[in-house]
Amino acid sequence: MNSFRNPDLSVNLGKIKLKNPVVVASGTFGFGEEYEDFIELDCLGAIIPKGISLKPMMGNPPPRIFETEGGILNSIGLQNPGFHEFINLKLPFLRRIKTHLIINFFGNTQKEYIELARRLDDVPGISGLEANISCPNVKRGGIAFCSDPRMTYRLVRAVRKSTQLPLVVKLSPNVTDIASLAKISEEGGADAVSLVNTFKALAINIRSRKPELGNILGGLSGPAIKPIALRMVWEVSQKVKIPIVGMGGIMRAEDAIEFVMAGASAIQIGTANLINPRAGIEVIHGIKKYLIENKINRFRKLIGLFRP
Ligand SMILES: Cc1cc2nc3c(=O)[nH]c(=O)nc-3n(C[C@H](O)[C@H](O)[C@H](O)COP(=O)(O)O)c2cc1C
Repeated sequence: MNSFRNPDLSVNLGKIKLKNPVVVASGTFGFGEEYEDFIELDCLGAIIPKGISLKPMMGNPPPRIFETEGGILNSIGLQNPGFHEFINLKLPFLRRIKTHLIINFFGNTQKEYIELARRLDDVPGISGLEANISCPNVKRGGIAFCSDPRMTYRLVRAVRKSTQLPLVVKLSPNVTDIASLAKISEEGGADAVSLVNTFKALAINIRSRKPELGNILGGLSGPAIKPIALRMVWEVSQKVKIPIVGMGGIMRAEDAIEFVMAGASAIQIGTANLINPRAGIEVIHGIKKYLIENKINRFRKLIGLFRP
């Protein structure tokens, strides 16, 4: 029974009922097994493994990670084993974990997104899909889906029609008006939006006069992006009715609570996993402690509490 001493941490993401709002972010938690020795995987609200594509991808040339002040710059380039290997080699382990499994996926074309959503629809043990729409559309000359409202709408609607699974659309912050893109995703049939993905960024080595990353540009994540990500979550929360999953530089429970007060129903831990594999569990404990100290019996009551 829930009470002020034992608050109810559960929250709904559309049809997915999470036991707590703490989810581990795609690309920062491998395929779960890498973290098995460090953290009680069953305790997490949900796990989102590395993003998958139809075919295996090698990713970008090294170096692919560079540490910056307050963050990391990565250009992994969506390296992944592809659908078949994921299903055969990675999913059996993930399926045994007693929490929700949300599959992050992407394609180079709308057709590839649809094909993957369809295939994943038939796979048992998956609670939902997270469509990473930050990818360049190869057919349309590399324009990212996420930066074009019409392409976003068409893509989300098409993916929505291809699967019965709950659909989370993951938004890129590299756009002028993220709230409008969230609204468009809602209109296209998304059950929730998650934000933010990494910020496009650059680091230069002044000795070699070359970029620090093999791919020249990378994506910035970690504490450096937190205030911008938080602003974006707040803006999106004023525009959509569907649940928001907030992320960007969450290192501690206090950061997570800020995102929830700004309007997020759940949060994702990304870069923090790379520094402290137990970050997710510590954030769960920290949220619980905050609720107890403030005599709040349900986590849900914190959502959108921010009153400017
Ligand atoms: C090394 C690395 C790999 C990532 N790979 C993916 C990915 O495959 N798919 C995706 O949607 N996001 C990916 N992300 C983005 C994270 O899921 C998250 O959106 C971002 O890092 C912001 O959160 P954070 O500041 O807590 O890390 C990756 C991030 C990092 C640092």
